[in-house]
Amino acid sequence: MKIFREPGKLQKWCRARKSAGKKIALVPTMGYLHEGHLSLIAEARRRKADEIVVSVFVNPVQFGPNEDYAKYPRDEKADLAKCRAAGATAVFFPTPSNMYLDRHSTYVVEEDLSKGLCGARRPGHFRGVCTVVAKLFNLAHPDFAVFGQKDYQQAQVVKRMVRDLNFDLDIVVAPIVREPSGLARSSRNTYLSASEREAALVLSRSLAALKAAASASPRPAKSALAKVAAAIEKAGLKVDYVECVDAETLENAKRVASGTCVLVAAYDGKTRLIDNVLI
Ligand code: PAF
Repeated sequence: MKIFREPGKLQKWCRARKSAGKKIALVPTMGYLHEGHLSLIAEARRRKADEIVVSVFVNPVQFGPNEDYAKYPRDEKADLAKCRAAGATAVFFPTPSNMYLDRHSTYVVEEDLSKGLCGARRPGHFRGVCTVVAKLFNLAHPDFAVFGQKDYQQAQVVKRMVRDLNFDLDIVVAPIVREPSGLARSSRNTYLSASEREAALVLSRSLAALKAAASASPRPAKSALAKVAAAIEKAGLKVDYVECVDAETLENAKRVASGTCVLVAAYDGKTRLIDNVLI
C-alpha cells in the first residue's frame, strides 16, 4: 500500500495509473476510521477498482469557528492498519498547509442543495466540503468516488457539484452502517459518554419507527416530524433539526412518503449527531 503526503506526488502516481488503464476509486475520509468507512472501501473493491485511494484529512475549511476541528479524533497509525487490512492500495495523508497553500483564495460553492439542513446551521460547511472534494478529484483522477449515506446532504451536494462542473467520475453512495444498537457509526461517537450513547439510540429508533409507519401509509410531515422531535427531546437530546425533504431536490415535503428522506441533527450533550432514513 502506497502512502502519500504530498498532493503533487499522489497526483503524479494517479495520473500514471490512469494512463496504464487502471480503474481508480477514491474514498474521501477525515480519518479515525470505523466500520462505516471500511464499508466504503469494501464497496470500491466490490466495484473492481484496481486502485483504491483513501484520503485521510481533517479539512479545516469545512469547520466553523466554534466547531470541533481541534479536538476531532485522529489516529494515523490505526487508520493505516485499517486501510491496509481493508484492501486500500494507496492512502493520502496531506496536511492543511500542503492542501491550502499560502494565500489560497479559490473555493467551490454549491448554491442550491447546500442551503438548508446542515448548510443552514453550519455556514460555510459545504463550501469547505466542495472545495476539498474538488481538489481530491483533481489529485486522484478517480473513475468513481464513494460517499456514505450517513451524510445524505453532503452526498447530494457533491453529486450536484460533479454534474454542474462536469467532473468526469461517478459518485457512489453506500448505505449507513450502524452499530448493533442501531446507532449510526460516526467518528464523533467517540465523544459520547455511556449514558449519552444510550440516549442517542432515540435517533435511529424514532427514524426507523417513522419509516415503518410511512412505508405502510404516507404521513403528514408536520405531525410526524413533531413526534420525532418530541421523542428526541424526551430522551434528553437537543434537536437541531428534524426535516422531511424530497430525496433529490432536498425541498421540504408535505408528506413523509416514498421518495422522501427524513433527516435529523441533534446535540447529545456537546456532541452534534446526524442520522437519516430514505422512505
Ligand atoms: O464526510 C467526510 O468525512 C468529509 O466531509 C469529506 C467528504 C471527507 C470531506 O472532507
